Amino acid sequence: MAVKFLKPLADASQFPAPSVTATPKFRLRDLDLAQHTKGDVRETTFTRNGRGAIGIAGTALRKDNCKNVILIPAYHCPALVEPFIWLDYEIRFYPVRSDLSVDISVLEDAISSGDVTHCVVVRYFGFGQNNNDVIQFLHAQPVKIIEDCAHSMFRFVDHFADSGKQIPDVDASICSINKILPTIDGGALYLKSKYQAELTHVGWSEEAKACAFIVGIPQMVGKIKALFKKTEIEPTQQHTDPTEEDMHLRYFQPIDLVSASYRHTKMIFCHSNLKYIRNKRRENFEFIVKNINNPDVGNALFKQLETEDIPYVIPFLLEDEKFFFDLRKKGIQILRWEEVAVSDCSVSQDYRSRLIQIPCHQQLSTRQLTFIVDTFNQLRP
Ligand SMILES: Cc1ncc(COP(=O)(O)O)c(C=O)c1O
Repeated sequence: MAVKFLKPLADASQFPAPSVTATPKFRLRDLDLAQHTKGDVRETTFTRNGRGAIGIAGTALRKDNCKNVILIPAYHCPALVEPFIWLDYEIRFYPVRSDLSVDISVLEDAISSGDVTHCVVVRYFGFGQNNNDVIQFLHAQPVKIIEDCAHSMFRFVDHFADSGKQIPDVDASICSINKILPTIDGGALYLKSKYQAELTHVGWSEEAKACAFIVGIPQMVGKIKALFKKTEIEPTQQHTDPTEEDMHLRYFQPIDLVSASYRHTKMIFCHSNLKYIRNKRRENFEFIVKNINNPDVGNALFKQLETEDIPYVIPFLLEDEKFFFDLRKKGIQILRWEEVAVSDCSVSQDYRSRLIQIPCHQQLSTRQLTFIVDTFNQLRP
């Protein structure tokens, strides 16, 4: 059956520019040129984005001479699903439970149909859920396992770190770098079996423009020009015009399959102080979750961090979706997955409006953290 994504419920243009952003901004002082996480990335292919990494994995693992049927969790963003639509997989959604874990018996049922060839496992928001058990179960099944660490960059890194941690037995693992680090683009891909993706870098002038963008030069020029009533300069990104055929895909572009990340994205990845970022994100999570105390508004989905959890954001379940608008109007860049595909999973259909993502990134100041907490605590039904 064709996948039908639901329409967005809100538009960023409805809200003021945020004072608390969802992701960190680039600051030269955050780089540590003396350190180099080389060992962490030796098996990694740097792609334009996470969806590109997913698409390359989908291409490498596609089975010839049979239908490719993939199980994908019903709670997702379209960028995770669209590469498989493009690659002509048959997509079947499996439900998630209210804590985003997976009922393994439901998965077992789905696989018992006998024609399932692949399964995606998502490590939502930097948390483990019961994914290790799910992967262990899948390992005994005749399916290819694609682990989505788009939100769990540190787990992805740990798979390859020199510290001797075990690579989980999956056929592919992907992550999305610009969800955690202040880069313009960036995905990363691990493939168990050898597959040489032919990726192209942008030209050096494009690279230079992107570097200028990341340090804010065109934005500054744009502001100056605006003073003289000229038009602002847009960020430079490598995009081809989508063909008519691509138009129904909102996020994935076929060029993502053959695009390497910017060279400086890899540089930022290798010279970021990952230890500091891990600790800061955990600390920020703990501060926010401990201090928001307004059950009329809702509750954090997870109250505690396991040792390996490094939050990308704080998933928080609202009592009423109206609070999403209140929070955005106050200038907190809260996100949510509004465009999940239609499925039988009642949790996913409900979470589309009620499960929000609170920022907890490494650059949040004490003032911003307190602002987040106070804003939540002051909301009234
Ligand atoms: C779970 C999940 N997988 C994959 C992706 C795709 O990552 P990217 O935005 O880097 O293409 C996203 C991002 O939206 C995501 O949330």
